[in-house]
Amino acid sequence: MTVIATADAGGSLRSVRIAVTGAGGQLGGYLGPALAAAGAIPIGFGHAAGPAIEHVVDIGNAAAVREALNESAPAIVIHAAAYTDVDGCERNPGRAEAVNAQGSANVATAARAIGAHLIMISTDFVFAGDGGAPYGEEAPPRPLSVYGQSKLAGEAAVLGTDPGFAVARTAWLYGGAGKHFPRTILGVLRDRAAIEVVTDETGSPTFAGDLAEAVVALAAIRAAGIFHLPNEGRASRFAFAQAVAGAAGIALDRIAPTTSVAFLAKYPLPAPRPADSTLGNSRAAALGIALRPWRDAVAAYVPRLAAEFGLAPSGEQPAIDEGVAPR
Ligand SMILES: NC(=O)c1ccc[n+]([C@@H]2O[C@H](COP(=O)([O-])OP(=O)(O)OC[C@H]3O[C@@H](n4cnc5c(N)ncnc54)[C@H](OP(=O)(O)O)[C@@H]3O)[C@@H](O)[C@H]2O)c1
Repeated sequence: MTVIATADAGGSLRSVRIAVTGAGGQLGGYLGPALAAAGAIPIGFGHAAGPAIEHVVDIGNAAAVREALNESAPAIVIHAAAYTDVDGCERNPGRAEAVNAQGSANVATAARAIGAHLIMISTDFVFAGDGGAPYGEEAPPRPLSVYGQSKLAGEAAVLGTDPGFAVARTAWLYGGAGKHFPRTILGVLRDRAAIEVVTDETGSPTFAGDLAEAVVALAAIRAAGIFHLPNEGRASRFAFAQAVAGAAGIALDRIAPTTSVAFLAKYPLPAPRPADSTLGNSRAAALGIALRPWRDAVAAYVPRLAAEFGLAPSGEQPAIDEGVAPR
């Protein structure tokens, strides 16, 4: 069970039409089935045609967004679409602004015009990560990267359009068919003896399937304002990688610790990352919506992923170590 407890004060989503932007993405792939399981009618909005996509729309195009939302007439919009390539945003700030900031404003304006409730998915990268983690919902944001700045501008546009709308921040998402951290770890270890992973970047690894269920629970109660929806707990990248290896039956000593400074000297990246952007869930938890501990989610998901790589998980688990490296 992902959502430890779900408030039912807001009633049912049965037969409620719910538009999902970014339906072809990592989270979108889990939102459709989670909404259908709750009895809702998901309506997929995508950037490109695909199996779950009913409307192909560039969210940067206000008129196209308005037209598609008018036509599909949802009662709720879950806005998961974003330009999520953090380094790509740094290289192309115009696209980051057009999609993450203006695109979110377009979705919010169009949702408000048809009287639909809106939940925008946002990110831990709105925080600087240089003190104060775990960040509560009210903590002052200070993004370090263009991606974080553009998502924060999107949040402001959404809540500025209607304070009854919601922003659900999450972090370090993984799951589904695309690129994500556990798949990268297993892919590298298929080809090489070891992988270096940083011990001094800490956050909230979150399984996209768990997040989808929590977002559906938030939608059911038409919650307003800012929420944090991470899997519970905190992990360094190193501890996360060790947990992935352990759940895939890979010897833990094939994950080699390194520091961000040493890693970036070898593999420079344009976008700065927060050192510790762990999210704390207080507001959703008070409504009975909380995600399971991150290690439980990794242990449940990674064996399925390992099977894709032809690995037979042994059940070996790393020693309990939240992996918060000394700085
Ligand atoms: N991934 C993470 O670690 C993470 C962490 C924290 C928060 N989040 C947030 O969680 C949400 C879901 O993330 P995700 O991992 O599912 O991302 P994802 O897999 O990259 O999916 C995002 C989707 O948005 C679509 N999109 C991009 N630009 C668009 C545009 N101009 N118009 C319409 N659609 C567009 C993408 O389509 P194309 O690929 O075809 O462009 C993609 O299908 C995002 O809001 C993200 O900011 C993600």
